[in-house]
Amino acid sequence: MIELVRYSDKHITELVRILNQSEVIKWILMPPVPYLIEDAESYLGKCRNNLNSDIEYNFAVELNSKYIGGSVLRRTGDDMNCAFVGYHIGKEYWGKGYGALALRKLVKFGFEIMKLKKIKAFIFEDNIVSEKLLIKCGFIYNAEIKNKVYKGKTVYNLKYFSLEA
Ligand SMILES: CC(C)(COP(=O)(O)OP(=O)(O)OC[C@H]1O[C@@H](n2cnc3c(N)ncnc32)[C@H](O)[C@@H]1OP(=O)(O)O)[C@@H](O)C(=O)NCCC(=O)NCCS
Repeated sequence: MIELVRYSDKHITELVRILNQSEVIKWILMPPVPYLIEDAESYLGKCRNNLNSDIEYNFAVELNSKYIGGSVLRRTGDDMNCAFVGYHIGKEYWGKGYGALALRKLVKFGFEIMKLKKIKAFIFEDNIVSEKLLIKCGFIYNAEIKNKVYKGKTVYNLKYFSLEA
């Protein structure tokens, strides 16, 4: 069973292992490389602080109580009814429908609990699996955004998807 749960110390080992998988981090903007236990502890501290804010919600994705990935909804600065979504699943769990189950639960939380009107997703333009996932979960493709982000010295185009309540 797939569940979204609050992060806790029991997730640290698998969080670190998965965020060192090149196939996963290739598609994510933020994480330090390599991703260390200290990075995970610092992230969990941030998640705990976020519990008081109603700005950002971070969830561990568990399969039968085992950590298999992470997810986040963060309200955009300009519109509190709108949020960015982010997610990852460990590579050995790909292609089994877990990403879709987790994203659908996250979307439900966003619309029902956060009362969002719109959820936005920005992915690297060649992130085909994530594109399939978003479309499978009802997101609509809006636009390509050229030369939007740097990873190292390389600049990437993004694709912008969204889902309305
Ligand atoms: C995107 C991601 C979460 C998908 O997880 P997942 O558990 O494989 O998702 P699902 O099993 O629900 O599959 C979603 C779609 O992707 C397809 N897919 C999954 N793995 C695939 C692969 N290796 N090659 C091609 N398609 C694949 C599935 O077939 C499915 O589409 P379909 O049902 O139309 O056939 C996972 O690949 C991941 O963590 N990627 C890196 C992080 C990332 O891209 N984050 C997005 C930016 S925030």
